[in-house]
Amino acid sequence: MKGVILAGGLGTRLYPLTFATNKHLLPVYNKPMVFYPIQTLVKAGVTEIMVVVSGPHSGDFINVLKNGKEFGVKHLEYAFQEKPNGGIADALALAEDFADNGPITVVLGDNTTDADISSAVKGFKDGAMVFLKEVPDPKRFGVPKFDPKDPKKIIEVIEKPENPPSKYAVTGLYIYDKNVFDYIKQCKPSWRGELEITDVNNFYIKEGKLQWSELNGYWLDAGTFDTLFFANLYWAKKNNPSILQEIKKIIELD
Ligand code: TTP
Repeated sequence: MKGVILAGGLGTRLYPLTFATNKHLLPVYNKPMVFYPIQTLVKAGVTEIMVVVSGPHSGDFINVLKNGKEFGVKHLEYAFQEKPNGGIADALALAEDFADNGPITVVLGDNTTDADISSAVKGFKDGAMVFLKEVPDPKRFGVPKFDPKDPKKIIEVIEKPENPPSKYAVTGLYIYDKNVFDYIKQCKPSWRGELEITDVNNFYIKEGKLQWSELNGYWLDAGTFDTLFFANLYWAKKNNPSILQEIKKIIELD
């Protein structure tokens, strides 16, 4: 299985932090953000990786990731998304040749998780697999709607719904078979001018080919000030538990 990390986008919600660098190169405790999705893939045995980049700081990725060897990546390549906010599906379309008719595991560059997706990667046969996580604020995400007659079956994914039909978010980790590229070609830009990954997932649902699994670990997209801060806190505590005392002291300060 090959892997793709989508690290395009503009990161506008993190302005002014992203004026001078790319969102995925910002620190999450002791590593640049993009190291985390790479770690997730390598842990799952995915060591041939394409990173899709865009925007004015694209060249900086190579200084940070180099050829990926120090992370256990055997083959690392880069693609450049011309329209930086063309959408997640637009970024993924660039991986068609790299995928070479095989399945791919996709991780959004701002998603940090300690979940282990190895068994899903190894057991993947065809169709699509999405990973769900219960969240307090599903409105910010693509939200699965389950079949009232079969509560294990997703009948639709709704992008940023006003009234979320479940408490789950579709996280930024996906496994797709080769059909994903045909579905992307059929997508039309949404009201925000992006090719939406939610539309791609809905194509799979129509074909009866979307499976899901609950992500078995901590997960956060670090794309806002608050979630970037929480991701830093989580990984700081995980890497250096002795820091907890100091964090508690700060929290108790008025
Ligand atoms: P978003 O957080 O939805 O978009 P963004 O990164 O442009 O940030 P903002 O909304 O603050 O402007 O994207 C989630 C991830 O998807 C992001 O980490 C990178 C990837 N992505 C692309 O690769 N290309 C794109 O065109 C978009 C929109 C996102």
